[in-house]
Amino acid sequence: MRSESPSLKTLIHRRQLLKGLASTAGLSLFPARLRASGAGMPLRFKPVSTESTEPFVLPEGYRFTRVASWGDRFHDGGALAVPIESEQAQRAAFGYNCDFLAWHPQTSREGRRQGFLSVNHEYSCPELMFPGYTGAKGSGLSRAQLHVEMASLGHSVLPLKRVEGAWRVRWGHSTLRRLSVLGPQIELTGPAAGHVRLQTSADPSGRRIIGTFANCAGGKTPWGTTLIAEENFNQAFFGAETASLDQDELTRESWARFQIGEKKRRYSWHKVDPRFDLRREPHEANRFGWVVELDPSDPTRPPVKRSALGRFKHECAEVTLAPDGRVVVYSGDDQAGEFLYRFVSEQPYDPARPATGWGLLDKGTLSVACFEVDGSFEWRPLRHGEGPLTREAGFDDQGHVLIEARRAATLLGATPLDRPEDVAVDPKSGALYVMLTGDKGRAKTSAVCPRAPNPDGHILRLSPSRGDGSAAGGEWSIFYLAGGESVGGLRCPDNGAFDPTGRLWITSDVDGDFRNGLWACELDGPHAGEPRRFCALPTSAEGSGPCFDETGETLFLSAQHPGEHSRWGALTSGWPGHGGPAPRPSVVAIERVDGGLIGS
Ligand code: FEO
Ligand code: CA
Ligand code: CA
Ligand code: CA
Repeated sequence: MRSESPSLKTLIHRRQLLKGLASTAGLSLFPARLRASGAGMPLRFKPVSTESTEPFVLPEGYRFTRVASWGDRFHDGGALAVPIESEQAQRAAFGYNCDFLAWHPQTSREGRRQGFLSVNHEYSCPELMFPGYTGAKGSGLSRAQLHVEMASLGHSVLPLKRVEGAWRVRWGHSTLRRLSVLGPQIELTGPAAGHVRLQTSADPSGRRIIGTFANCAGGKTPWGTTLIAEENFNQAFFGAETASLDQDELTRESWARFQIGEKKRRYSWHKVDPRFDLRREPHEANRFGWVVELDPSDPTRPPVKRSALGRFKHECAEVTLAPDGRVVVYSGDDQAGEFLYRFVSEQPYDPARPATGWGLLDKGTLSVACFEVDGSFEWRPLRHGEGPLTREAGFDDQGHVLIEARRAATLLGATPLDRPEDVAVDPKSGALYVMLTGDKGRAKTSAVCPRAPNPDGHILRLSPSRGDGSAAGGEWSIFYLAGGESVGGLRCPDNGAFDPTGRLWITSDVDGDFRNGLWACELDGPHAGEPRRFCALPTSAEGSGPCFDETGETLFLSAQHPGEHSRWGALTSGWPGHGGPAPRPSVVAIERVDGGLIGS
């Protein structure tokens, strides 16, 4: 929707009014003790300086320990030498560019604290992974190196335990696990399973997909599983320009909209795997862009792609519960001008029987957000046969609507946003905070995206009616306009997470001359809406996946792509100085030296 914008001042002030709307709905994954004691707890750290020459800067009184780095061998935790020699070695080691993190706490029989840390691996940096690499789009890589690259993305499950006051990986443990685009086979379930547009010569069933990749953000369910989003899958597909399609022009339109083609291609996997050559397998691209559900505690349970959540560039899959127990999953489609989606399960979740959560995401309704100038928003359902989503419009069935969720959403009047990334749900109010990383190319303003261009992005706050995530709509406001003179210096907001006391933590994703990091932000009191810089990262690194443990005393954080865009011989970062001179994307655990709540 596009129309005259109310003034920025009006929109920002509206957020003050919305503060009164707080309710108790919404899921909290933290103990009630912390939530109750921490309401409105002020931040008590001095913002860090970006001038520091330390590679990883935290406020005074804080420290970090390295949990795992790219190339750490699963059997013993030792670092593989760079370059990694074989696919087999990389498949049994921690992957590249760690991103989203989900912490699943457990207690051992002896009462020791332990748990599973689920870690996404988003993309590769061949210039840092393969000394001497030259070329573009992986064209300079040997066949063996292309296989190493394929094995370096996906997901890791790390079992952790608390040993002598620090989180340690249980190297050699049977639950250590890697997913990548090479495997395992992942079943696609829900309304699109078996769809003719998902069938390939290697999989005539249309429901058995090899692997996952481009895993950016994600989510975690109350029944203990991790949701892994597939984001920039377009970057792996070759041949869109010359493929002769067995189907309609709409597929070509879809490829163009997903930016499938030479301009945005990053990988050359088609040279070693015909799946990625659209001239041979025009349906393969339909088999990515989904949300994968993984049970980190059970290495024998195969992961599943849940098609009911739709196919697009899923940045995340943030989970909350409606007051009646139905499961609500929010997801941004991270590309300029794309949309914000919500899934609501048909059946409620029964906390007394957590095992029955597996499968709940196969049946339900996917909707897209439509924003109005008056400050209201509405979720419009993507249901085949309703409104414009008909055969006449080219939709064969519900499976097809989900495969082409973007086109369906456009026909429903969805509102284009400036790269919707992560969504964080306030466990106290049920409000959702939507990180919009920005759009350098935006030409016209709208109410929700009031700047054109918008290189620094902003954060929207959506307050569902009655705090009920399953409600048909609610009210929206602009929570934070980044860049320029804005308080706190946050730019390009990317990942968001709540701490156990109800403060919002936000990472930045600026690709350029800026020191990325992590900010914390109070939501009540005199400093509400003023992010404060908590962390400054190594050169060219980006913080992602901020994630608190159940006590609020540990903050896990991924540092992706330190030294990106530099080359061997002139590396701009060697962080974290582990296993040789190569920079290694790593997960760290941040704690207070005196042990208290992070941020307080
Ligand atoms: Fe992978 Fe949208 O950041
Ligand atoms: Ca991201
Ligand atoms: Ca990003
Ligand atoms: Ca990134």
